[in-house]
Amino acid sequence: MGIRLFILGVFQLSLQMFFQVSYAAPVIVSEKDLDAQYEKSVNQLLENLNHEDIRRGAVIASPSKNDPDYFYHWTRDAALVQDSLLQAYLAKPSEELSKKLTENFINWVEFEYRAQRSSSFTTAALGEPKFNVDGTVFAGPWGRPQNDGPALRALTMSKWALALIQAGRKEWVRQYLYSSDLPATKIIKTDLEYTSRNWQVPSFDLWEEVSGLHYYTLSIQKKALILGAALAEKMDDPFAGRYYREQAVYVNDELLKFTDSIHGFVIATRNQTDGWTNKKSKLDVAVVLGTLHGYLDQENLEAVAITAQNLEQNFRSLYAINKQKNLSTAIGRYPEDVYDGNGFSGGNPWFLATHAYAEFYCKLSQRNGGSLNLQQKGIGYLYRTLTHVDRRNGEMSEQYSRQNGYLMGASHLSWSYASFITAYLACLK
Ligand code: NOJ
Ligand code: NOJ
Repeated sequence: MGIRLFILGVFQLSLQMFFQVSYAAPVIVSEKDLDAQYEKSVNQLLENLNHEDIRRGAVIASPSKNDPDYFYHWTRDAALVQDSLLQAYLAKPSEELSKKLTENFINWVEFEYRAQRSSSFTTAALGEPKFNVDGTVFAGPWGRPQNDGPALRALTMSKWALALIQAGRKEWVRQYLYSSDLPATKIIKTDLEYTSRNWQVPSFDLWEEVSGLHYYTLSIQKKALILGAALAEKMDDPFAGRYYREQAVYVNDELLKFTDSIHGFVIATRNQTDGWTNKKSKLDVAVVLGTLHGYLDQENLEAVAITAQNLEQNFRSLYAINKQKNLSTAIGRYPEDVYDGNGFSGGNPWFLATHAYAEFYCKLSQRNGGSLNLQQKGIGYLYRTLTHVDRRNGEMSEQYSRQNGYLMGASHLSWSYASFITAYLACLK
């Protein structure tokens, strides 16, 4: 047995060496490898949540403390992480996961409650995007406000709250998450009031670079208001429910203005007021993400699909690793991107963007009666990820090099794992 293990060990070692020296080597993989990567992603994510140097409930964007320093809690990343864990639990409820996640959810709510409180005294108010790992506001210069944050927080917490009400925990929800008091005293209502009153106000986009009105931010705000309205009604607050729904209708009208009638695609930003001015193509994977984190059944879904195709064509020619034709396209944020994860040597593909394409096509497949073609297209992007992760522990970072496919940018990015989880569930569950 010793010998067999040893041989296996040598074999694995040589495989690893093979993967490391070869550039985007065509790996022989199967669905089992995707299943394994899913489990590893959940575990890596839980490890980030349990990092020893942080206040409980903080969600570090990454454990990396320098080059780059991502050892902070971003409201956006945190809400997306919590959402992915809820999805993981709902897909495969187990007592073990339930225990871990309930505790983790309660810690997160407490952390966010403090964060929400302390940010309400800053000029960016609830749009404060980034917090220290002890829950205090990050006070350095930054692109703020970012108003997708409070909406995402309300959205994920509303999902949890609705599930808790169904499980008979309405009074718990009233005590910690939502009550009809006005001015709002509970976390979800506070975010919903802020969102209803501020969606018309320009804010920085999810990439923290451009201020204006964004398709991504508005998509999240719309969904937060609709789920929030459902929650308000369940929590005996019907007038608030009506108000949130009304605002969601106006937000939707605004969203429809983002379809560019000449090109037929959805542009990322309108009414820019500040920030970078290099985004000439107006194409951005943020539009696809907005559809995934918001609603897929939007009136402009076809335009979103055209956006995805146009973007993909851009990345095909921009990134050297996309010359390899037997792999799905490596997807970045937007064509003009220059951020390399630590400096500005040029943009790269991102895991979370590549996973967004997987999830998008798999969800389109579900809508089209389970179309195999669309599903296969979606799964292709997950296989692409497998050629870049560290196969031993499933490690992902923020980006992978456009030249040689190696991991780049913040290590163990929580959002990379979270986006693999939700894409995998959309494609293979
Ligand atoms: C860090 C931001 O989070 C990232 O999105 C941005 O591209 C760079 N800073 C450059 O501003
Ligand atoms: C940079 C990304 O652009 C932004 O969306 C994210 O919130 C932070 N990094 C933290 O992961």
